[in-house]
Amino acid sequence: MKPLIIANWKCNPATKKEAEQLFKDIFKVIKKTKKVEVLIAPPFVWLPFLKKAKLCAQNCFWEEKGPYTGEVSPKMLQDIGIEYVIIGHSERRNHFNETDEMINKKLKSALSVGLIPILCVGEKKGENAETVIENQLNKDLEGISEEEKNKIIVAYEPVWAIGTGDSCESCDAERVLKFIKKQYKNRILYGGSVDSKIINNYLNIGYEGALVGGVSLKAEEFVKTIEVI
Ligand code: PGA
Repeated sequence: MKPLIIANWKCNPATKKEAEQLFKDIFKVIKKTKKVEVLIAPPFVWLPFLKKAKLCAQNCFWEEKGPYTGEVSPKMLQDIGIEYVIIGHSERRNHFNETDEMINKKLKSALSVGLIPILCVGEKKGENAETVIENQLNKDLEGISEEEKNKIIVAYEPVWAIGTGDSCESCDAERVLKFIKKQYKNRILYGGSVDSKIINNYLNIGYEGALVGGVSLKAEEFVKTIEVI
């Protein structure tokens, strides 16, 4: 299977013009690359304007519709042709108080309409990675059948490595990968300050792709990150 690289644009760029320009600059390269599968995860509002790409939403709600001001449902995403959705990113867990119970409901709802969830897990600084991840996976995947579980892509993102320039030393990342693989069989991605200099460290130890945040907003460096794979 080709490595899967997800450009997580987070709450960027601020204008449609900039979003289209960024996309144009990276699409030139991603449409030609045969070695890597690339998903663009822009804010909801830019999704309909980037239809040429394989798209991934950054979040979703769990109900299909109803009186839930400000929410976007998996059914709505699926209806406009989106295939993937990030669920449980640490920024959602930390800034928006998303609990594992909410994440579990989102996963079930996304799976029910055929979206492929990218489930993010990882420890904060000073926490034990294995303990945190085991707890998150147990709660997030509760009540989801083995068959459905196999459709979910787990991303290990140590919270302290996100947007900080800190990288998880290969040995730690390898140890955590082995730990997740013991209880979970599908592909596992890495995320946290990934760039062209370190992407292959993670792929070489067995991660099958990466979530790229900050660097995905700089077309030249993002393209380089894909080209070095
Ligand atoms: P970063 O973000 O590459 O800026 O660390 C990764 C992510 O949050 O998914």
